[in-house]
Amino acid sequence: MGDLTHLLDANRVWAANVEREHPGFFERLRHGQKPSILWIGCADSRVPANEIIGLPPGEVFVHRNVANLVVHSDLNMLSVVEYAVTALGIKDVVVCGHYGCGGVAASMQPAQSRLVDNWIRHIRDLARLHREELEAITDHDTRFRRLCELNVAAQAINVNLSPIVEGMRRSGHDIVVHGWIYDVADGILRDLSPLMDAEMILTPEPRAIAKPAH
Ligand code: CO
Repeated sequence: MGDLTHLLDANRVWAANVEREHPGFFERLRHGQKPSILWIGCADSRVPANEIIGLPPGEVFVHRNVANLVVHSDLNMLSVVEYAVTALGIKDVVVCGHYGCGGVAASMQPAQSRLVDNWIRHIRDLARLHREELEAITDHDTRFRRLCELNVAAQAINVNLSPIVEGMRRSGHDIVVHGWIYDVADGILRDLSPLMDAEMILTPEPRAIAKPAH
């Protein structure tokens, strides 16, 4: 603990291996990046972006935070998305959540006085929109998994509806947002794109917002 020399040593070995297997690899990357996808994922150590889709350095532009949230006012995330779609010309955006997500689990517990409770409040709000469906699931683990899925769909929709992405589309750029969920128990990714229906996910009850009476 404290002394991380072994990691610096491991890095030398890794770089030498990469160079041996792919001569000129780092020289090519020195000239710039041209990643093919933007990955917005959870900070969880079990879900390393490049590794689980088998892509080397240079292929994936990454933003990670607790519970892979896409919050309209998060300048950090928005700056990443903007740079990815405008400067790097990325067309495919992946929002990847995972089963067993600690942020989602925390949102199912009573709130505490922690900073992170402000962050996961976004998941609580989402759970409230889907209270009927979630409460009907009696098995806790099944309900937890479902909320992890709903969270992926909601965050992917948030990217889809962001002014940056909408603006790029208006100027003729086809940007596709994908919602994926990763199972830390088997290492498999599943495509949740069929769940990405903004009306169903963000406003599941059509009459939730009542019209003012005249
Ligand atoms: Co997580």
